[in-house]
Amino acid sequence: MRRELLGVTGTEPIGTYTLLRLERGGLEPGVPGQFFMLEAPGRLLPRPMSLCQAPPGELAFLIDPIGPGTRALCALEAGAAIHVLGPLGNGYDLSVQRPLLVAGGIGIAPMPYLSERLGSPPALVGFRTEAHADAARLLLPQAEIAVDPQLVTHLLPEDPGDVLACGPEPMLEAVRDRVPTAQLAWEAPMACGYGACFGCVVEIDERYTRLCIEGPVL
Ligand code: FES
Repeated sequence: MRRELLGVTGTEPIGTYTLLRLERGGLEPGVPGQFFMLEAPGRLLPRPMSLCQAPPGELAFLIDPIGPGTRALCALEAGAAIHVLGPLGNGYDLSVQRPLLVAGGIGIAPMPYLSERLGSPPALVGFRTEAHADAARLLLPQAEIAVDPQLVTHLLPEDPGDVLACGPEPMLEAVRDRVPTAQLAWEAPMACGYGACFGCVVEIDERYTRLCIEGPVL
């Protein structure tokens, strides 16, 4: 992992989300599911973001502008620069035979890069509105889409194969109930990203875990 000041090459609206594109600098894109800490201008704490796309010379992050930090990141303009640390944590194990990508909401963020690395496998994505679902139409065109009240787990086939999932906790737990072997990318607030602050401790299977070190994919 490295920390570098990266130039902003631009932002694009993707449905209700924003794709923030940065110059790659000397940072490696890492394994899909790993994350980067992005330092928003004027904000004390960096925000953990998984990589969405890795076009040549760039790193692109899909951001849901839900708070002051994420809104500040979405408001960046080409020519600005921010500090980025990464890649961090553990990503998905890509040695799978029959991958099926499963995501909910902003959990779609790591899926385009994961899809690229796995050769565009089938994907299922759930959103709470049609406007949010535009993200899948633009970034993961092979995906089958569920919109609330339909749940993405309703789309899981009888024999789902090797599931790689990212999304809100209730969705991940529902996926795990159906597919105990699924690889799941969990979310937690993170202040440091490298094991120092204990802000990301979660209880999973009656065990306390620092998600930034042991996860986010468990
Ligand atoms: Fe600081 Fe995990 S984010 S210990």
